Amino acid sequence: ALRRFFVGGNWKMNGNKESLEELMTTLNTSSLHDQTEVVCAAPSIYLDFVRSSLDPRIGVAAQNCYKVAKGAFTGEISPAMIKDCGVDWVILGHSERRHVFGESDELIGQKVAHALESDLGVIACIGEKLEEREAGTTEEVVYAQTQVIAGFLLSEEFWFSFLMEGCCSVPDNVKDWGKVVLAYEPVWAIGTGKTASPEQAQEVHEKLRAWLRANVSDDVADSVRIIYGGSVTGANCRELAAQGDVDGFLVGGASLKPEFVDIINARA
Ligand code: G3H
Repeated sequence: ALRRFFVGGNWKMNGNKESLEELMTTLNTSSLHDQTEVVCAAPSIYLDFVRSSLDPRIGVAAQNCYKVAKGAFTGEISPAMIKDCGVDWVILGHSERRHVFGESDELIGQKVAHALESDLGVIACIGEKLEEREAGTTEEVVYAQTQVIAGFLLSEEFWFSFLMEGCCSVPDNVKDWGKVVLAYEPVWAIGTGKTASPEQAQEVHEKLRAWLRANVSDDVADSVRIIYGGSVTGANCRELAAQGDVDGFLVGGASLKPEFVDIINARA
């Protein structure tokens, strides 16, 4: 297939060296479909440890990073540091970063641009809240989030600097879509046990692909992996994986359990 199945495990702020060692032993010794790309997102303090303990065929991701390489940004980590630990991926724009820590679309776009320039792969997350779905604005919300990630929506900040300084080039965060995996995670499905139905997931994924076709290119629409996240389990993963536009998963809670292996192997 054109799009290799991609399963990310987002461990969030969970685990300790002992429990993660145990989880990694399970992953290292299980038989994982070699057609599936697997990436585990570890807490930043464990990235080095996880990269050195996990089988090299399994990728590692950071769960966040800042938008510049270095400087006076206490508590932050940069893509350069992530790369320095042998880690090749970062999750950006996760719902918890947006809604618990107040990250704006704008900041997420800037982080995506810098991470890609630093040669990290980016798992870029989007998704509507329950009230947005109920108001019928799901498409509008996920298109707008994708557009800001792509970077060609001209922001107020852009127009301000354009007018004030006569600047500059049109923002274009994503020069290489080959390094981007788009994760559709409806906020109402995250950590709630309320998974989107296979039809609901397929519908949004299909529309996102059509959006990429209309706004980026046929090539990008055909090749970008669009993965689903939100209460994916060993029990519901097969039906979701059978949908034509579901190219994998971003798994939270279940990625800390042995059933993560079943999710990795969801596509027969
Ligand atoms: O990044 C993963 C998502 O937030 C899903 O989390 O599988 O615990 O619902 P969950």
